Amino acid sequence: MTSTQTHWPYARLIAHRGAGRYAPENTLSAIRMGAQHGFTMMEYDVKLSRDGVPVLLHDDTLDRTSNARGIAGNLSFSELAEIDFGSWHSRDFAGEPIGTLASIAAYTLANGIASNIEIKPTKGLEHETGRAVAEQAARLWRDAPLPPLLSSFSEIALQAAMEAAPDLPRALLLARELPADWQEKAERLRVKGLNMNTRYITHDNAVAILDAGYTLAVYTVNDPERARELINWGCNALFTDEIKTISPTYF
Ligand code: G3P
Ligand code: MG
Repeated sequence: MTSTQTHWPYARLIAHRGAGRYAPENTLSAIRMGAQHGFTMMEYDVKLSRDGVPVLLHDDTLDRTSNARGIAGNLSFSELAEIDFGSWHSRDFAGEPIGTLASIAAYTLANGIASNIEIKPTKGLEHETGRAVAEQAARLWRDAPLPPLLSSFSEIALQAAMEAAPDLPRALLLARELPADWQEKAERLRVKGLNMNTRYITHDNAVAILDAGYTLAVYTVNDPERARELINWGCNALFTDEIKTISPTYF
């Protein structure tokens, strides 16, 4: 355990893509499922429809998580609203609509659930997406007790989010090893911390990040022993798909 004083006002356990394994990921049903299992914080991926509406979707294309095909960002919101985002998962969720940032804000705020909004731009729309998501989040969470944490793998999106809503906290997502210049990036983007891939977290780099005063949240942790190890090293939070075993009652 480190002696870090880093301030992390959020939950220790975060349901990844909502409860994206047991319900269609990144939908209101997934968020509800996470809440029913005691999770008080959700991570979800947000990008823009062609007409600029922030919607929940992980991939650039519709292929994996809906009954449609092609680039989601080429469709208007009214076109996306006609697509089934549930049947691919299971028939219980047939007809699930695309989640919007506005609908997820309404549900999470009404139920005291915190949010990590991952800005996941369609390729080429990094700046526009960072700005639009941050602007809408600032409006939707204006009176919230806890602001959403905005994160992205895209430094362009984070920079745009910082310019659009400087008061919303941000985290830099890293998919691979901790780069040598991580602190320079963190300072430039004025992030609160790093959200890192569990594969690349060692005890030493976790301690270095925390001792430098940054928060550290780790994805995607589905093994309870690894979860316990990361928490013992002082990591602030874990993203999990395994809401039934790595649950708020377990930790
Ligand atoms: O935000 C943590 C995690 O969701 C990042 O990876 O691909 O699941 O969005 P991905
Ligand atoms: Mg994500």
